[in-house]
Amino acid sequence: MPTEKEIIQMLRGVIDPELGVDIVSLGMIKDVKIENSTVRVTLELTTPACPFRNQLKEKVENVLKRLTEVSEVKVDVVARVAPSRIIKDNPIPYVKNIIAIASGKGGVGKSTVAVNVGLALSESGASVGILDADIYGPTIPKILNIEISPTSADNKILPAIAYKGIKVMSIGFLLQDEEPVIWRGPLVANTIKQFLSEVEWGELDYLIVDLPPGTGDASLTLAQSIPLTGVVIVSTPQDAALRIAMKALNMFRRLKVEIIGMVENMSYFICPNCGYVSEIFSRGNVKAVCERLGIKFLGEVPLSPDIRINGDLGKPVVIAAPKSGSAEAFRRIAYSIASSVSVIAYKRKETSMGA
Ligand SMILES: Nc1ncnc2c1ncn2[C@@H]1O[C@H](COP(=O)(O)OP(=O)(O)O)[C@@H](O)[C@H]1O
Ligand SMILES: [Mg+2]
Ligand SMILES: [Zn+2]
Repeated sequence: MPTEKEIIQMLRGVIDPELGVDIVSLGMIKDVKIENSTVRVTLELTTPACPFRNQLKEKVENVLKRLTEVSEVKVDVVARVAPSRIIKDNPIPYVKNIIAIASGKGGVGKSTVAVNVGLALSESGASVGILDADIYGPTIPKILNIEISPTSADNKILPAIAYKGIKVMSIGFLLQDEEPVIWRGPLVANTIKQFLSEVEWGELDYLIVDLPPGTGDASLTLAQSIPLTGVVIVSTPQDAALRIAMKALNMFRRLKVEIIGMVENMSYFICPNCGYVSEIFSRGNVKAVCERLGIKFLGEVPLSPDIRINGDLGKPVVIAAPKSGSAEAFRRIAYSIASSVSVIAYKRKETSMGA
């Protein structure tokens, strides 16, 4: 029988597809057990929402099956989300990654993406929070059908708990219904800072922040006051929407916020009667922009009645119709985001250790 060392050596041949580094160096092989002629290995992924889960598991299995002395191979897959933020000197100590969702225009589906991506990450096994920081239209409580405002205990605010245990805090909880509010940048920033430091988030793998649309004073201050892992930009494919999305993108670049990637929402329409796929707008425009700028394209979401109806009913499509094409689209995007966040975490760890 091979020794543990020999097995680990063999597993150096398996390369993580995103990082281009072998899984042993990445610390993903946690446990190797050899019992009689059975080899048991624990593979620890950097996120439960790993798009390469099966691919990696199979590669590990295939390597071990090559050993003629081994009759049985067992690969246990676990996941532990890596932090992209330096945890120790941070005001929100247990939040490992903070992902902002932004857009140029309002109404392009920013909140819909934030919520469904959050649910998909939570469903994969990650602990997730959503911070609704859209001062112009804090719609998250409505999309998630949250009626009770958060409560407070021991000078801490307890977030509301939504589907799949997601923790939610919204600037809307502070506002009276339908009342227009004028927010100045510094006021917004202070409120959000309090949301980050005074809300009992507990340990979170991902905190998703629904930012206000655009590049106004408030958005700018917000982007600067939240210690972000990076930002996801949502756009519809029309030229006009995309042009404004590019302005937002450039603002984040100037602020040195990592661009995780872009999502194309309302990409195409599938006729519910005959299944005909209509590319009403210009499907593919966002992807083309991403390719031109060297940004990751995170995926496309169809324009679909089940997304709007379920959103309006307070039951997002990932919950209401988990097997639908729309839910699948959000899931793919969530996994793509999680994978990019793992890469950012890895790179930041490398630089901070090198420094
Ligand atoms: N892919 C989609 N298909 C159908 N309706 C959508 C889709 N994305 C968003 N919507 C609907 O469009 C409206 C605006 O979406 P929302 O997420 O609130 O936008 P934003 O947060 O960017 O202002 C909502 O009624 C929502 O249900
Ligand atoms: Mg919104
Ligand atoms: Zn039709």
